[in-house]
Amino acid sequence: MKLTVPINLPHAPYDVQIGAGVLGCLADLLETMRASSVVVIADERVDALHGGALRDVLSRTKLASAVLTFPAGEASKNLATYGRLLDGLFDVRPAVDRRTVIVTFGGGVAGDMGGFVAASALRGLRFIQCPTTLLADVDASVGGKTGLDHKAGKNLIGAFHQPSGVLIDTAMLKTLDDRQLSNGLAECVKHGVIRDESLLTHLESARDAIFARDEATLGDLVARNVRIKARVVLADEREANIREILNFGHTVGHAVEVMGGYDKLLHGEAVAIGMVMALRLARRRGLIDDASRTRVEDLLARLNLPTRCDNIDADRLWEIMLHDKKARGGKVRMILPLRLGEVAVFDDVTSAEIAETII
Ligand SMILES: NC(=O)c1ccc[n+]([C@@H]2O[C@H](COP(=O)([O-])OP(=O)(O)OC[C@H]3O[C@@H](n4cnc5c(N)ncnc54)[C@H](O)[C@@H]3O)[C@@H](O)[C@H]2O)c1
Ligand SMILES: [Zn+2]
Repeated sequence: MKLTVPINLPHAPYDVQIGAGVLGCLADLLETMRASSVVVIADERVDALHGGALRDVLSRTKLASAVLTFPAGEASKNLATYGRLLDGLFDVRPAVDRRTVIVTFGGGVAGDMGGFVAASALRGLRFIQCPTTLLADVDASVGGKTGLDHKAGKNLIGAFHQPSGVLIDTAMLKTLDDRQLSNGLAECVKHGVIRDESLLTHLESARDAIFARDEATLGDLVARNVRIKARVVLADEREANIREILNFGHTVGHAVEVMGGYDKLLHGEAVAIGMVMALRLARRRGLIDDASRTRVEDLLARLNLPTRCDNIDADRLWEIMLHDKKARGGKVRMILPLRLGEVAVFDDVTSAEIAETII
C-alpha cells in the first residue's frame, strides 16, 4: 500500500510517497521531471545493500546515470567528501547540465550531503530524496535543510533546498539494525509530545509490529510523522518561531551529544535523554503531571532508548548549552511540554534547574 503526503509549499510543492517498494516510482518521477540525466549520491553501505534495486529502476528510464558513493557515517559529512563528490559530479559523462537530477540514497547523512551538492552545483539542481533510515524518513527528509559539518560544529555549512520529491521505501528498513531503528523512534516520540498525543498511544500499541518491520505499520508510522513535521515546517519554512518546537529534547540532547563525543551516543539516544530532562523540568515547574512524565519515559524505555545519563557534569552541560548556536543573548532556550501534544518555548531556564533535573 502506498501513502502520499503532499507538501504544499507555495513556490515548490512536492509529494512524499511512502510504502514498501515505492523506490520503483523513481522511474516515473524522473520522467515527469523531464530529467536529462541522473546522478545518485549514496553512502557505500546503503549502495552495497540496496544499490542493485536502485540501478534496476534507473535502467528502466534509459537516462544516462552515475552513482557516486562516500564512506557511511557522520564522519563523512564534511567539506572533503563534498569536494570529492563535486569532482565526481563534474567528471560524469555526458556532462551534467541544468536538467540533471540528483538522487540522494541513504540515511540523513546522504540526504544532507547529496542535498547540499544539489543546492550548490550549477547554482542549484533538482533532487529527489530516497531516505533509508527511520530517522531520515521521519525527520531529515522533510524541511529542505541540507548541509555539512565543519570542525567548528555540526551542520554549520548548508542551504535550504527543497526536493522535487521524496520516496520513502519502508522495505529498506528491513536491513536497518534495531539500534538505528530506535534512533528514528526518538524523533517520533518527539513529534508525539510536541503535536499529537495519539501518536504516543500509537507507538505504545504498535511497538512490537514496528520492531518486526511490519510494512503496513511502518508505512503508517512514517506517514503520521511526515505529516506532523510538514505541518510545522510549512507554517514556518525558514525557522524563527513555530519550527523551533522541533527542538524539543534537543537543547540538552545536543549538549549531551557533544559531551559524549559524536561517536558514543546516537543522535536519537541523546535526544531521548534530553526529552526526559525537559519532561522532568516541566514537571518541577508544575507544567505537566507526573503521569505524563512517566508515560513518555516508559515509552522511551520500551523503544530501547536511554532515559538516563550517568556522570554528567552539570556545569559543563550548561556551558555547552549556552554556546549552542540556537541560544540567544546568553539565554538558553528550551522547549517544554504544557501537556502531551503541546509545547512552548521558554528562555528563563536556569543552570540550577538543569542541575536539579540531571538524571
Ligand atoms: N536535514 C534535516 O532536517 C535533518 C534532520 C535530522 C537529522 N539530519 C542529519 O541526519 C544525519 C543522521 O542521519 P542517520 O541517522 O540516518 O545517519 P546515517 O545517514 O549515517 O545512517 C546511519 C547508518 O545506517 C546505515 N544505513 C542507512 N540505511 C540503511 C539500511 N536501510 N539498512 C542498513 N543500514 C543502513 C548507514 O550506512 C549508516 O551507517 C545527521 O547528520 C543529521 O545532522 C538532518
Ligand atoms: Zn533530531
